[in-house]
Amino acid sequence: MFWEPIAAVRAVVSAANGVARLLFAAQWGGLLTTFKRTLVTSALPYANGRIHIGHLAGAYLPADIYVRYLRMRGQDVVFVCGSDEHGVPITLRALKEETTPRAIIDRFHEQNEAAFRAAGIEFDVYGRTSWPEHHALTQRFFLRLLEGGHIEKRKTQQYYSEKMQMFLPDRYVEGTCPKCSSGEARGDQCDACGTSYDVTELRDPRSAVPGDGSTPILRESMHWFLRLDHFQEALQEKLEGRSDWRRNTLGGAQSWLREGLRPRCVTRDTSWGVPIPLDDPDAAGKCIYVWFDAPIGYVTNTQAWAERQGDADLWKRYWQDPACRLVHFIGKDNIPFHAIIFPAMLMGQSDYILPDIVVANEYLNFLRAGEAAAAKFSKSRGTVIEVGQFVETYGADRLRYYLTAIAPETADSEFSWQDFLHRTNGEIADVFGNFVHRSLTFAVKSFAAALPSAGELQETDRAALAAIPVARDEVARLLERFQFRQAQAAMLELARTGNRYFDEQQPWVTRKSDLERCGTTLHVCLQLAAALARLAAPFLPASAARLAAMLGLEAHDAPGSWARIGETPLPPGTPLTKPQILFPKLEREEVPE
Ligand code: 2FM
Ligand code: ZN
Repeated sequence: MFWEPIAAVRAVVSAANGVARLLFAAQWGGLLTTFKRTLVTSALPYANGRIHIGHLAGAYLPADIYVRYLRMRGQDVVFVCGSDEHGVPITLRALKEETTPRAIIDRFHEQNEAAFRAAGIEFDVYGRTSWPEHHALTQRFFLRLLEGGHIEKRKTQQYYSEKMQMFLPDRYVEGTCPKCSSGEARGDQCDACGTSYDVTELRDPRSAVPGDGSTPILRESMHWFLRLDHFQEALQEKLEGRSDWRRNTLGGAQSWLREGLRPRCVTRDTSWGVPIPLDDPDAAGKCIYVWFDAPIGYVTNTQAWAERQGDADLWKRYWQDPACRLVHFIGKDNIPFHAIIFPAMLMGQSDYILPDIVVANEYLNFLRAGEAAAAKFSKSRGTVIEVGQFVETYGADRLRYYLTAIAPETADSEFSWQDFLHRTNGEIADVFGNFVHRSLTFAVKSFAAALPSAGELQETDRAALAAIPVARDEVARLLERFQFRQAQAAMLELARTGNRYFDEQQPWVTRKSDLERCGTTLHVCLQLAAALARLAAPFLPASAARLAAMLGLEAHDAPGSWARIGETPLPPGTPLTKPQILFPKLEREEVPE
């Protein structure tokens, strides 16, 4: 009985996906016509600290670029994120600061939302898992799985601190990793090797509760388990042949499936979280596990968005209609939760679509000057770079440019101040900024601040203009494959083409010898600049808007504007304003050692 609706939904989704993939192979943009809508999510950051630039590079900036691009393609997109406000990360921080979890989440929810805004990351909704609506929805998910026979109660052994008289869920315990022997493994997961395991598998456990440090004992506690094994076959089928998934994501999911899915505990001995919705004495003092409720936050937040749009049912068009494509952006440590566990939870609801693609990024590390190897951003080593502070000093688009240029798409990558200086000066300032600036300055000075008309086009002019649709299609092709680094490089290549053309045509010479020829050159250059204002909009939204304003180009990033990138939008006589420098060069002293 239960499997019938699931099978029906799956058949539709999988048929839609199958068709989508075929089209994808045939031409870029196939998916955009196959799916009517797209729901993009970015992993909900824990509200236990400020997000830093390493976080941005993973689940947030690429998603924002993708959403901006889809909108310019005229797609119906909703972009969802919010704070993950439950679990041990929150309570541990509260204990350390001798405050309440509520005080912690209120502080960091607000600060993180502001940091994203500063970086130009424009979510449609930034919700909270502490919302009562989220608790209610999580409980409905739980009960539906229970009714379907996919959640069951089991006796377990949990670590308990006799000193503190409390159970020690997840990160409340530290010890030695059973897989790689790192001495800093957490209760449920080892950051060093990325393995997650059962808390009883941890070696040499010790309590991580501030002021405790005792060796915990094992004590019996009843818990509820999600029968992931029920979904093994369906998940396997879903992942088959998905060559469009990144290797890290597909590989991570497949390795879970190869090992065989096992029932997984989805409740914890904690009072901070979503209460277990059962009238059962065994449920007292326990909550639903944060990793069960957090991804449901994507749904809750979409519902909140729908409410704000004045149509409470609108969320269903994104979560319950196979014509919508669900795309998750995450960091690599979240792969099993998004590629295995959450899809299983959705299958168990029977009326939800499944993620079509999970885009996982590797880690961005910090390379300190003079050191041979990069290490994690770390507060204690003073290498955490907060987003708000960074944007205030260098501007959002410098940050966006550099993080995309070094995006950890297929392997961990490194942030270094030296490289930041070098690449932002040498690429966006010298290539993009310079092309735009020299073209506009020249036109303003030599053609009375109005776009000169083009005389008869020569082969070189036609070749320069022909580079516009080529760049547009290349950027689109790469973005649709989630290759953001290369997509941005392809965008910059158009500015390079512009610089080469400017150099070859030597308008400073033709201004004296052949003014019409000089006008044609500047006409072509400024049409290229206008194309760049559109093409750069997903990557560098603030600078693209400034450039568009200098050119009098309206609605440069409006819905559907992508298709117009091949046009030459500026009519002769367009008034031009004296340009501001888009990316003033940074001096060596302006960045830290
Ligand atoms: O790893 C993390 O930071 C988690 N807070 C991500 C949650 S993603 C989603 F499931 F909400
Ligand atoms: Zn390990």
